[in-house]
Amino acid sequence: MITSENNHYIPALKHSWLTRFYDPVVALSTREKVFREKLLAQAEINPGDQVLDLGCGTGTFAIMLKTRHPTAKITGLDCDPDILIQAQKKKISAGVDVTFDESMSYTTPYSECEFDTVFSSLFFHHLKSVEKLRTIREVYRVLKPGGFFHVCDWGRPSNSVSRVMSLCVQLLDGLEVTRDNIEGRLPSFIKGVGFEEVSQLGRVETVLGTLDFISAKKPRK
Ligand SMILES: C[S@@+](CC[C@H](N)C(=O)[O-])C[C@H]1O[C@@H](n2cnc3c(N)ncnc32)[C@H](O)[C@@H]1O
Repeated sequence: MITSENNHYIPALKHSWLTRFYDPVVALSTREKVFREKLLAQAEINPGDQVLDLGCGTGTFAIMLKTRHPTAKITGLDCDPDILIQAQKKKISAGVDVTFDESMSYTTPYSECEFDTVFSSLFFHHLKSVEKLRTIREVYRVLKPGGFFHVCDWGRPSNSVSRVMSLCVQLLDGLEVTRDNIEGRLPSFIKGVGFEEVSQLGRVETVLGTLDFISAKKPRK
């Protein structure tokens, strides 16, 4: 089992004892319905597709995916066993079939070219630069050629109020892991790993800063 002692990771609200409050905090602070609908809408999911939600947390987005695309096979991955207990409970009460796996994002148990689509939301700002790059390489490995990677995460603040508010996230999760996000570097990291058609698909303003939406395609070659 993964623990924060044998593998470094930052839990959903930085401290494990706060994990139980994650869902209400996100609901109150991120315009959750707006950003999750926008992320879902930017992807094309076909019947029978294999879809991964990386850093799935309490499973909200994975469950939403399965509800909207019942024939797709949805997998959520997270390294925190405590948050996956919440995800399992939510899946049972939603009555949907989603697989939740416990693993680090950069060493997943999946085969090469296993997924049609990989999503991640509010996740990359938990990783150091080197972990971000390792994770994006892993996403590239597990995606099928022509498959898409869709990301929603904190980005460069669009104005000075947003910049000030984004300090709350930076102070909570840490300056080191959030810096690449706030400086707008995620798209160039994704391009650098070999993805094509890397596009920024708009932004959502929240009380905690600006959320960026990115999509990228693994070349067919
Ligand atoms: C802020 S939460 C986002 C959860 C979810 N994606 C959402 O949209 O609500 C970040 C999640 O990333 C997970 N995490 C952090 N580092 C990780 C890593 N290296 N591998 C897998 N999961 C990780 C944490 O356990 C946490 O559940």
